Amino acid sequence: MHARIAQRLYRRFLQPRVPAWFFGDLIDKTDNFGHVTWLGRPVWQNVLDLWVMQETIAEIQPALLVETGTNRGGSALFFAHLFDLMGHGNVVTIDVEKLHDITHPRITFLSGSSISPAIVETVREIAAKTTGPIVVTLDSDHRTDHVRAELAAYAPLVTPGSYLLVQDGVIDTLPRFADGRPGPLAAIEDFLKTTADFEVDEERSRKFLISHHPRGWLRRKVARS
Ligand SMILES: C[S@@+](CC[C@H](N)C(=O)[O-])C[C@H]1O[C@@H](n2cnc3c(N)ncnc32)[C@H](O)[C@@H]1O
Repeated sequence: MHARIAQRLYRRFLQPRVPAWFFGDLIDKTDNFGHVTWLGRPVWQNVLDLWVMQETIAEIQPALLVETGTNRGGSALFFAHLFDLMGHGNVVTIDVEKLHDITHPRITFLSGSSISPAIVETVREIAAKTTGPIVVTLDSDHRTDHVRAELAAYAPLVTPGSYLLVQDGVIDTLPRFADGRPGPLAAIEDFLKTTADFEVDEERSRKFLISHHPRGWLRRKVARS
């Protein structure tokens, strides 16, 4: 009897809070995933989110993945290695700074702001020559205005049925990241008001209960004929 009451109390009062507590501890322990590596190269990602990216890439089978925010190159290399295993796919990655010495035949590194007209035009040209699904991940400057501009520039490149990942909405949800607000979430909500072409794939963000990208997985709907 006592055990059943204890279990009910746990389910009602404690269980809903456990993921948030664990998430906080994990961020502290890992220095916000600041020391994660892929084959020795720094990749600044929550590993659970990185796994969801891997699953999405396997599902969508992109011909092209566009990444804003290269940083030390580990995420671009991770995607390129997945494409090596899959036997197809290329990566375009953009950063204002060059912080790595990585080269890989599947990766095009672009230097400049992700929202500069020249960079956007170059990525559009690469996308136009691509046959097959295109995935976009936005992981550069996470301030609302910048993400809004990236969404305007890069969302049209995402092919129907494929995904646009807006990273780090956690800035708007966890108090510890409040200094970075307003962050990506407002840009996501504004974007969704301007288009009926995309919908949030909630399950993809919530797959492992904790994620840096709440409401971040935007799926481009497939037009009904
Ligand atoms: C969070 S890091 C990217 C992490 C990387 N994708 C990874 O998973 O390892 C953000 C990067 O965005 C870059 N950045 C900031 N503003 C930018 C802009 N306007 N255009 C392109 N990159 C920018 C920074 O230089 C930084 O390297």
